Amino acid sequence: MQKEIDMLDVLKIREDFPILKREVNGKPLVYFDNAATSQTPQVVIDAIVDYYSNYNANIHRGVHTLSQEATDAYEIARKKVQEHFNAKLTHEIILTSGTTHSINIIATGFTNLLSKGDEIIVSALEHHSNIVPWQMLCERSGAILKVIPMNQEGELVMDVYDQLLSDKTKLVFTNHISNALGTINPIEEIIEKAHAVGAAVLIDGAQSCPHIKPDVQSLDVDFYVASAHKLCGPTGVGMLYGKEEWLNKIPPYQGGGEMIEQVTFEKTTYAGLPHKFEAGTPNICGGIAFGAALDYMNTIGFDAIATYENQLLEYGTQKLLEIDGLKIYGTSKNKTSVISFNLENIHPYDVGTIVDKLGIAVRTGHHCAQPIMDFYKIPGTIRASFSFYNTKEEIDALVEAVKKAKMMLS
Ligand SMILES: Cc1ncc(COP(=O)(O)O)c(C=O)c1O
Repeated sequence: MQKEIDMLDVLKIREDFPILKREVNGKPLVYFDNAATSQTPQVVIDAIVDYYSNYNANIHRGVHTLSQEATDAYEIARKKVQEHFNAKLTHEIILTSGTTHSINIIATGFTNLLSKGDEIIVSALEHHSNIVPWQMLCERSGAILKVIPMNQEGELVMDVYDQLLSDKTKLVFTNHISNALGTINPIEEIIEKAHAVGAAVLIDGAQSCPHIKPDVQSLDVDFYVASAHKLCGPTGVGMLYGKEEWLNKIPPYQGGGEMIEQVTFEKTTYAGLPHKFEAGTPNICGGIAFGAALDYMNTIGFDAIATYENQLLEYGTQKLLEIDGLKIYGTSKNKTSVISFNLENIHPYDVGTIVDKLGIAVRTGHHCAQPIMDFYKIPGTIRASFSFYNTKEEIDALVEAVKKAKMMLS
């Protein structure tokens, strides 16, 4: 049974995050840029300090004690990732530098698995990381990229998806949750329909993993990718889940140490999974801290996180909409705690600059999702993205700051 987060718990949870005590421009920090990167709790910072203070060594290589300790800790972290995402096999988890790296491994790996005229399908709601690698794949393979369009609410138009699918479709890739709008995509339906025509599916979980706990086996997804820094872990580390049969079919992404079985000048044979995709010295400390971050998030509990963040979303939406001339982009009923908005006739960047002066961190711009901004014919938005350590009082501070910005800029 997961506990509900009430206000008191949130105040206690905030104690776990040293950065939340700091001031910015003489005001208490209000951190609403969680969709870009989350903050780091002390237990994760401790895991990083512990690694560098006590057992910093390269892994899988040495017989000495430090190397064995580091190897054990790294492999325990992989196991934690496996358990968290409910992958069947530990070696179906590849530790990468993040979502972008994970997608590129698959996009590059499909080069020789596609033929000219094959089709691959992307959603209109993607981050550039889940668009550009596939365009590069199309250039290499002659495959054709098709797009599931979006509507004004920021939802995918699923009727068109049905029409796009055919026996030419080889791959479908979409995010689980849109970083720019917060829309939760119907990935179960997307996966089921893709599989019905024999296509594989990659889900970009960069934005879902801070809010929900995906189960890759029950989703029956072929590939699922995420970054640790979105869920209280460090930057520069993430994961790629792939079904064993797919990971065996896909060639290595990079050549180098650790990914080989045997090297001669005539021929190299590759290591098995997961090492085949982990050439070179990995982000050892990052991997271990990723495991610590998952432990931390699971202790709080994803049901409690979702319930509380939904309350913040509802409260923030209602309060912001009380401001005249404020428009929210992404109004699906099915969304997470991301509010993307603009003030009429005011550039988002100007609002972002003023609210920063008041200690509030929001993201402004196109959020690496230019096609979404083009759809709405806007240069960008102001994005406030809430986490379980944020409070309603902080939302009040944002609302006051936006009102002030409006007054100054109108
Ligand atoms: C939906 C989505 N996909 C991919 C990424 C890229 O993640 P990373 O920069 O950690 O590789 C992000 C980052 O914001 C994202 O929000």
